[in-house]
Amino acid sequence: MKWTDRQIELAASMLGHYSDYSDLPKAIELISQTLGRRVSDDSLYKAFMRRDMLPLSKWFRGGSGEKSLEKEWAKFAEPNKHIGSELQSLLDEDGETNAVQKLLILPDIHDPFSDTKAVDLAVKVGKKRGTDVLIQLGDLMDCLSVSPYRDGEIKIDLLDEIDSANRLLDKLDSIGAKRKILTIGNHCARVKKYLYNNAPAVARMIDIKKELRLAERGWEAIDYGDHIAVGKVAYTHCVAGYGAKAHSDAIRDMGHSTVIGHSHRMLFHFESTICESARVGASMGHLSRPECSGKHMHKAQRRFWQLGFGSGVMLPNGVTFLSPCPIVNYKTVVDGVVYEG
Ligand SMILES: [Fe+2]
Repeated sequence: MKWTDRQIELAASMLGHYSDYSDLPKAIELISQTLGRRVSDDSLYKAFMRRDMLPLSKWFRGGSGEKSLEKEWAKFAEPNKHIGSELQSLLDEDGETNAVQKLLILPDIHDPFSDTKAVDLAVKVGKKRGTDVLIQLGDLMDCLSVSPYRDGEIKIDLLDEIDSANRLLDKLDSIGAKRKILTIGNHCARVKKYLYNNAPAVARMIDIKKELRLAERGWEAIDYGDHIAVGKVAYTHCVAGYGAKAHSDAIRDMGHSTVIGHSHRMLFHFESTICESARVGASMGHLSRPECSGKHMHKAQRRFWQLGFGSGVMLPNGVTFLSPCPIVNYKTVVDGVVYEG
């Protein structure tokens, strides 16, 4: 087994979190899960030897169960004792903390102009696969009724849109995700803008988060222009751009791995710094119908939109492996399983 310098450093820092020598097997288990492969005592011994990390390598020379090393280990781990006990109590309290978490990432839905069949397919995936963290990337609602692009062709008012969005949220709640996050997009943000421009005296009375009963439903709401970090990835509706480079520009602008909605494209970009391994910038497609208020755009721009959503697997250390789930003929594949709408 080949070890990179970064992996060796990661393993060394994880070992330091365990203050009891008898916990060494647990530390090895955590290292294995984090690296996504089974590591052995012998492999750790050789890796630390190669880096001249003799104080660490010796723990693995004769296996991890030797009682004679117990005292020495406690001395080595003393500076990190509090971290070790905090980490362990987390693991003891909730066995799932040590497990990988499954993410379901739903991009722009633009309700009531959603592609219902596509949304239902994503919900089906979320239920069958199991969802620990559900992230909606913004533009849950289209808010055409308060859009500057409203052309009068579609008769709808904000109350209709709010009622419809609440029915959509009932559906998303039925997935049963343990954690639910909604990032407000530019379309929902139009409500506030419209009110301040047209009826400033009552602008503070209407709050879209309250109308959608997000707190009551157990959703964490992230304001437009803000982001949330889940593990080692930031999620936000948009950073600056809209076009073909919005997802890669997001890494530059955020300085961090970032997943965005907004562009309706399904794109991934990876890059590293001189010292650190991969950062990802991704956009996860959309779940809307073309008659959402993108109608004002030229059809040619929608050529690059992709119906679909995203899935992810987050390791205990927060590293997240993201996957695009394009929907083609109302079928998609997640973790090697074919789902049909
Ligand atoms: Fe959108």
